[in-house]
Amino acid sequence: MVYFSLSHGLSVLALLSSTVLAVPAKEEFTKRPGSRPDDHTLNKQRADAVKDAFTYAWDGYYKYAFPNDELHPISNGFSNSRNGWGASAVDALSTALLMQIPRIVDQIVNFVPTINFDETLDEISLFETTIRYLGGLLSGYDLLKGPLSNLAKNSTAVDALLSQATRLASNLAFAFDTPSGVPYNGVYFNPNRNDGSTTNGLATTGTLVLEWQHLSDLTGNKTFGELAQKGESYILKPNPATSEPWPGLVGTNIDINTGLFQDAFGGWVGGDDSAYEYLIKMYVYDTTRYATYRDRWIAAADSTIAHLASHPSSRPDLTYLAIFNGKKLIYQSQHLACFDGGNFILGGLVLKEQTYIDFGLKLVSACEDTYNSTLTGIGPESFRWVTNDTAPNDPSNPPVPADRQTFYARAGFYITNGNYILRPEVIESFYYAYRATGNQLYRDWAWDAFVNINATARTGSGFAGLNNVNAPGGGGFQDFQESFLFAEVLKYSYLIHAPDNVWQVEHNGVNQWVFNTEAHPFKVAGPPI
Ligand SMILES: *[C@@H]1O[C@H](CO)[C@@H](O)[C@H](O)[C@H]1NC(C)=O
Ligand SMILES: *[C@@H]1O[C@H](CO)[C@@H](O)[C@H](O)[C@H]1NC(C)=O
Ligand SMILES: *[C@@H]1O[C@H](CO)[C@@H](O)[C@H](O)[C@H]1NC(C)=O
Ligand SMILES: *[C@@H]1O[C@H](CO)[C@@H](O)[C@H](O)[C@H]1NC(C)=O
Ligand SMILES: *[C@@H]1O[C@H](CO)[C@@H](O)[C@H](O)[C@H]1NC(C)=O
Repeated sequence: MVYFSLSHGLSVLALLSSTVLAVPAKEEFTKRPGSRPDDHTLNKQRADAVKDAFTYAWDGYYKYAFPNDELHPISNGFSNSRNGWGASAVDALSTALLMQIPRIVDQIVNFVPTINFDETLDEISLFETTIRYLGGLLSGYDLLKGPLSNLAKNSTAVDALLSQATRLASNLAFAFDTPSGVPYNGVYFNPNRNDGSTTNGLATTGTLVLEWQHLSDLTGNKTFGELAQKGESYILKPNPATSEPWPGLVGTNIDINTGLFQDAFGGWVGGDDSAYEYLIKMYVYDTTRYATYRDRWIAAADSTIAHLASHPSSRPDLTYLAIFNGKKLIYQSQHLACFDGGNFILGGLVLKEQTYIDFGLKLVSACEDTYNSTLTGIGPESFRWVTNDTAPNDPSNPPVPADRQTFYARAGFYITNGNYILRPEVIESFYYAYRATGNQLYRDWAWDAFVNINATARTGSGFAGLNNVNAPGGGGFQDFQESFLFAEVLKYSYLIHAPDNVWQVEHNGVNQWVFNTEAHPFKVAGPPI
């Protein structure tokens, strides 16, 4: 998912031909639990330890911050960066459900009917509101009406999950009222108005359709899905042609008046990321209605393997994805982009294409390297590398700064922003890698990451962001606990060790549930693949 946009205006001059090296680390997807001894005692202990951490963070939030959006774990204060509708509570619901903690489920389910989604003084992000609030409410509804109905004590309050989602989406629907149907991302209520933008981003436009369509499918009101799909239509058929440098890979900024892309700058990074993620997830959601989305994902995935795969000069064994400006590559990536391995693996599973699984596992290994190479064992917000593939002095491939050369020689990347703000993407991809292969290695990686986050970021009444993952103790704290700690980090950390269940990603590619970009699982609508 994206929580900020990539900065633009980078000058990239040189043309470059990317090479694709053969890299080992191939996993067979026949290797499943059962084909080797599975240590149930160990995995249960690990799942329980993650559950303990979730309960600790929830209790801190509940005591000092509820019903505000997020906890400040060091000062025991709170803030409302997501319109004051209780973002952490709504984001925590599906995790409390999958962990089956009745007390926390009840606290959240009884709170939801009291949220006033008609009012907020602050600017609303259509994207953030969709993935966190709509996603959390619809997922809670699916789980409580379905496999976890035993945790539904108050059917009126369960029904309110859907009616509150409908109320929120109805209040937001005016954001799509533009000449093209590409929505404004920034809007205000009372009176309804927008932030005056002339463009919307690829991710903020292309990461609405799963939630809004699911709301339509649950309520029978087709309007919600139609609104999101109108915006999405400009991504599925991008114009002008120059905004699609390789088939399926597109630019970032879309004109709200015309639906035309404004640039050819992009990649699998923040600002673009989850638009690609949702192409294949829509197909998982319904294989009959969303074959076009599948085809666009395949085009993007094939172009990515052919053109964006990049191997650091010091570590040819690693595969990262470059970003692009037209056909020029720029060798930088982010923690956010590390969902890419998991998304390739999901695509490979549902399309039964081992190539995508193998490529996804390479991306997973390289993202693990960003964790394993730092002092804290946690990966940085953003990083760069250099390649051997360009002409000398190519500005798109600058040399490693002198003070990072030792680190780069060993790690294959150097840190450009050392923050860790409780992001999930690396652990998320470990989860898909484990579900596809059954290889305990990925559980061990996820466990190491969790233990390191628990050891370094856990402080005061919860978990705090870190200033520098490569400094002792994480280089100091940021007194802010993002709601996605509950929705994502602790959910994927838990699920990878948890037993099979209907909501788990299936290695045979036939999924009954699909996770939105905030890790809220939705019941799929279509016939199994
Ligand atoms: C059930 O939930 C509804 C809606 O929030 C609430 O009005 C009612 O008091 C709840 N009932 C019980 C028994 O808690
Ligand atoms: C469906 O939702 C749209 C958007 O909120 C709303 O304008 C319309 O009245 C709804 N239709 C029905 C039949 O409820
Ligand atoms: C880059 O060049 C160095 C020195 O020749 C070599 O050791 C390394 O393997 C090369 N890296 C890649 C990715 O080809
Ligand atoms: C890196 O991985 C190795 C091998 O699994 C492990 O022994 C080591 O503790 C890890 N280092 C960090 C910082 O996580
Ligand atoms: C997590 O941190 C707490 C507090 O420091 C500690 O008690 C607990 O053992 C840690 N859990 C793991 C699995 O390391």
